[in-house]
Amino acid sequence: MKQYLIWDLPIRLFHWLLVCTLLALWYTSENGLIENHIKCGYFALSLIVFRIVWGVVGTRHAKFTAFFPTPSRLKKFLIDKREPPGHNPLGALMIILMLVLIGLQATSGLFIDDDVFSSGPYYGVLSSELEKIMNTIHHNGFDFILIASAIHIAAIAYYRVVKKRDLIKPMLTGKKPDNDVNEKDGIAHSKIITFIVAATIVGFFIYWLVVLNAPVIEEFYY
Ligand code: HEM
Ligand code: HEM
Repeated sequence: MKQYLIWDLPIRLFHWLLVCTLLALWYTSENGLIENHIKCGYFALSLIVFRIVWGVVGTRHAKFTAFFPTPSRLKKFLIDKREPPGHNPLGALMIILMLVLIGLQATSGLFIDDDVFSSGPYYGVLSSELEKIMNTIHHNGFDFILIASAIHIAAIAYYRVVKKRDLIKPMLTGKKPDNDVNEKDGIAHSKIITFIVAATIVGFFIYWLVVLNAPVIEEFYY
């Protein structure tokens, strides 16, 4: 059986690093390891910003234009049920929702504090109403991320058990077999040079955002 490359290496790295980072964020918040929590939060933010950039400059099936769930794509998928080589429009809907939820969770973290010693780099910058909103988002957002992830994993299990289609192996190896995709669907390579350039730029941007551009907090001890 022939196999064709569908998911580039950056997408696969992004996916499994995101899963590990979310686990670390949950663990560090539950156990009061706030300094580590904040560092992991910066990494989660970097991953989301990278995925947005990769959705524009990445390989064919990684691009938002390839899988953005427009009403006509959704309608077509629900009627003729043909599976595209990359994300199907329903899966894509969930993926975009997860990216937005995780992005909101990480962004709101920048503006809050833990009522003790630690705070995000932009704590104190917003009006108190906006800060309250950020707090509300950060304290409730994770529940929505968990619900969305559970639906995502259930959908993948449904494909495995009912549709007899393994989506997990392609997310590990990048390749799908020729009874699921055609030769013309395959990508030639993972655009590694573009990946290195994009990841470096995103890394510098996040460093600028959370260190260089962050306001200096004046601390007074009486
Ligand atoms: C915290 C939990 C998870 C989150 C937030 C998450 C998020 C995502 C995202 C954002 C994508 C889109 C990838 C991209 O185009 O960049 C994706 C795809 C995928 N994820 Fe997850 N994921 C989670 C857990 C898992 C787990 C545990 C598995 C495996 C058991 C899994 C298997 C997959 C697969 C197979 C795809 C590709 C789906 C397709 O073929 O369209 N995910 N996930
Ligand atoms: C996707 C990324 C993130 C996730 C999933 C996440 C998740 C969480 C969760 C589940 C809590 C516990 C909330 C509660 O007890 O009600 C929490 C608390 C907290 N997070 Fe995050 N977080 C993320 C990013 C960040 C970032 C980037 C920062 C700061 C720069 C941050 C700063 C904090 C602080 C200061 C608290 C403590 C709040 C308190 O004790 O009142 N988080 N986070």
